[in-house]
Amino acid sequence: MGNLNLKLIIATHNSDKEKELRSVLDDCPVEVMSLEQFPEIGDIEETGSTLYENAKLKADTVNRITNLPCLGDDTGLEVDALGGAPGVYSARYAGDNVSYEDNLMKLLSELRSTPSEKRTARFRTIIFYTDGERELYTQGEIQGIITKSPRGSNGFGYDPVFYIPELKKTMAELTPAEKNKLSHRGQAMGKFRKLLLDIIQ
Ligand code: IMP
Repeated sequence: MGNLNLKLIIATHNSDKEKELRSVLDDCPVEVMSLEQFPEIGDIEETGSTLYENAKLKADTVNRITNLPCLGDDTGLEVDALGGAPGVYSARYAGDNVSYEDNLMKLLSELRSTPSEKRTARFRTIIFYTDGERELYTQGEIQGIITKSPRGSNGFGYDPVFYIPELKKTMAELTPAEKNKLSHRGQAMGKFRKLLLDIIQ
């Protein structure tokens, strides 16, 4: 598609998230860049107390350094039986510098005596865009149930324990295209894509 005048940086060091975000913009007339192209930008500490604050923090920080339009994503898994935890702390639920597996095992352990009907949860994503003047934000969410053991090998993070009743599959049993069509991030990005196209066309 058309002119590639607009550069857009995806402000994350998480390559799994970046892949999903990037794929929604595949056919947009923008040059999508990643933080790999800006090695001087290190980890951005998520000091916000909400997903919105963290998504904005990531986009604002990278925009300030590069002067280019930036997109930040922050996602949380909210489990009802845990009062909405791990929520904004989803990346470090089991501690600092832990693996996806560590977080997932901690979640299953916290829920070990919670029966199936009380294991309801949702993924929520906030996308925040800034070009230094204009700001946009969108959100997406999907409801599911936390399984008692992991299933499936696609996706990342908590996907293997996030069961979608309508599909009778965990998020990790979906193909990347299937996940992006209905996921929290896919929905937020779909809305953002429309807003972005309005700006640039
Ligand atoms: P953050 O948005 O980078 O703070 O992501 C928080 C954490 O949530 C990640 O480290 C993952 O463990 C988890 N996460 C984010 N997005 C997804 C997803 O699409 N599926 C499963 N887990 C996710």
